[in-house]
Amino acid sequence: MAAPVVDAEYLRQVDRARRQLRALISNKGCAPIMLRLAWHDAGTYDVNTKTGGANGSIRFEEEYTHGSNAGLKIAIDLLEPIKAKNPKITYADLYQLAGVVAVEVTGGPTVEFVPGRRDSSVCPREGRLPDAKKGAPHLRDIFYRMGLTDKDIVALSGGHTLGKAHPERSGFEGAWTQEPLKFDNTYFLEMLKGESEGLLQLPTDKALLSDPEFRRYVELYAKDEEAFFKDYAESHKKLSELGFAPR
Ligand code: HEM
Repeated sequence: MAAPVVDAEYLRQVDRARRQLRALISNKGCAPIMLRLAWHDAGTYDVNTKTGGANGSIRFEEEYTHGSNAGLKIAIDLLEPIKAKNPKITYADLYQLAGVVAVEVTGGPTVEFVPGRRDSSVCPREGRLPDAKKGAPHLRDIFYRMGLTDKDIVALSGGHTLGKAHPERSGFEGAWTQEPLKFDNTYFLEMLKGESEGLLQLPTDKALLSDPEFRRYVELYAKDEEAFFKDYAESHKKLSELGFAPR
């Protein structure tokens, strides 16, 4: 699919939305849920059928009420005023821009953002996102279906450096790191330290330690934050462009 060419006014609104997102995300401390929204919109992609992906379909009740999206309506609502002020920008672009800005304002790498995603009103069926109770084979099934790789799986799991689990949303509780509003490589350091009082490790996080192919990236990212930032920025860009072919 050729991406629509965005015009000068569209680009002006992207710039303005970016500034408004920086303010919103820093003032409300809502970087984690914005990153999760971006990931859950994009992560439904199926490379074989070319359905799902970063297409804004999560804005519909049919999709945000999927079990794995519990809580994300909060992020959708927080972004509505920015959409109203920048009406040319598609929801698909706005959600991905919010994810990119969330990583940036919490100290993470700059993820390149290319505008031009189209909105879809077709919601994927429930069950395309990973189940946190499962292991390495499941992670591969889900991420390979998106067209992503082992390296993408581990780098993107580093997104858990931000935020926490809420029992009323996922049934899990707690943050992965001591500073859940700071984007750094401590997710990997904590993983290698093992279980710590008060911190969370999901079964899917632990799967990154037990699988040798995944583990070599965990070890690299724990000892070399620059390598993590570089790979994360590349993988996040890929994720943000699932189903979108920018020119
Ligand atoms: C939170 C699962 C990958 C970013 C969560 C939660 C679960 C989960 C169960 C807790 C939700 C809640 O209770 O509020 C998984 C699984 C993954 C995965 C099974 C498979 C690898 C990712 C990826 C990213 C990401 C790829 C982004 C690059 C986040 C963030 C939060 C979160 C930022 C915190 C949200 C908040 O604080 O409100 N994830 N996740 N996750 N996830 Fe993931």
